[in-house]
This record gives sequence, C-alpha cells and structure tokens, in this order.
Amino acid sequence: MKNIIAAAALAGAVFAAGAATAADNETMMAAQGQNVFQHRCGGCHSADPSKNTFGPSLSGVVGRPAASLARFAYSDALKASKIVWTEDNLRKWIAGNDQFVPGTRMRHIAITDGAEQDYLLAFLRALK
Ligand code: HEC
Repeated sequence: MKNIIAAAALAGAVFAAGAATAADNETMMAAQGQNVFQHRCGGCHSADPSKNTFGPSLSGVVGRPAASLARFAYSDALKASKIVWTEDNLRKWIAGNDQFVPGTRMRHIAITDGAEQDYLLAFLRALK
C-alpha cells in the first residue's frame, strides 16, 4: 500500500514537472519574442491595447479579424482582405506582408526564420 501511494505521488510530481516545463518554455519563448518585437515591430506598433502608434495596437491580435480596430486608419487593401489573424496567417504576414496583402500600408518585412516566427507568435499570444 505504501508503495502504491509513493508511486502515485511520484507520478504526480513527474506530471507537475512536465506541466511546469511546458509553461516555462512558453514564457521563455515569449521573452525571446519580446526582443524580436522590440527590434522589428515596436517602432510602429504598441503592445498597449489603448494605443495605436504608426501601426495599430497588436494587443489581442491573435484571433482578431484584420483591420478591425475602430480608431485606426487602415489601408483599403487590408480592410478588403477579410483575413482573420490566425497564427498561420500571422506567419504569412510577417514572412512577407506585402505579398500576402498587396497594397498594405505596412512597410515590407520578411521574418522567414521559423524559430524567430515561433518566438514572435509566443509573444503575441501573451499580449491580451
Ligand atoms: C514601419 C512600420 C511598421 C513596422 C516595422 C511593422 N508594422 Fe505592422 N503595421 C504597420 C501599419 C502602418 C499597419 C496597417 C497596415 C494597413 O492598414 O494596411 C500594420 C498592420 C499590422 C497588422 C494588422 C493588424 C490589424 O489590426 O489588422 C499586424 C498583425 C502587424 N502589422 C504585425 C506586425 C509585426 C508582427 C511586426 C514586426 C515583425 C510589424 N507589424 C512591423 C506598420 C508597421
């Protein structure tokens, strides 16, 4: 009986450690992503939901329909795009926004490195 309890406790501990690792990993990825964001996006985009700067705020952008912030003057191209910012579409956008949505006002960027995209997406997911 003692052994069963010990085994169950051990299994619980291993499971908890596994969960903590996944969470730590996401936190680490988001921290890396914040660096990428600051260098590549932060000049034009704010992470603050109440602030549009040169570009629209990217707070809560994951899952948001494109061109949907009321207080930002989007291009006609982005307004007509009918895109929803799924992670897949965000990857396409940061890999080559002006190929993905020709006519967008956002200056060309090309983040094609998969790891860099992963970091950036972890950061954008964490922005609520
Ligand atoms: C030189 C300024 C500039 C830089 C740098 C920039 N953006 Fe943008 N971004 C804009 C502008 C301007 C728009 C609006 C585009 C339009 O209306 O066509 C925009 C739009 C967006 C949108 C659409 C948001 C919405 O509400 O539909 C996303 C997502 C986005 N940018 C992500 C990024 C990411 C991620 C980076 C960094 C990798 C980045 N941008 C870098 C200026 C910039």
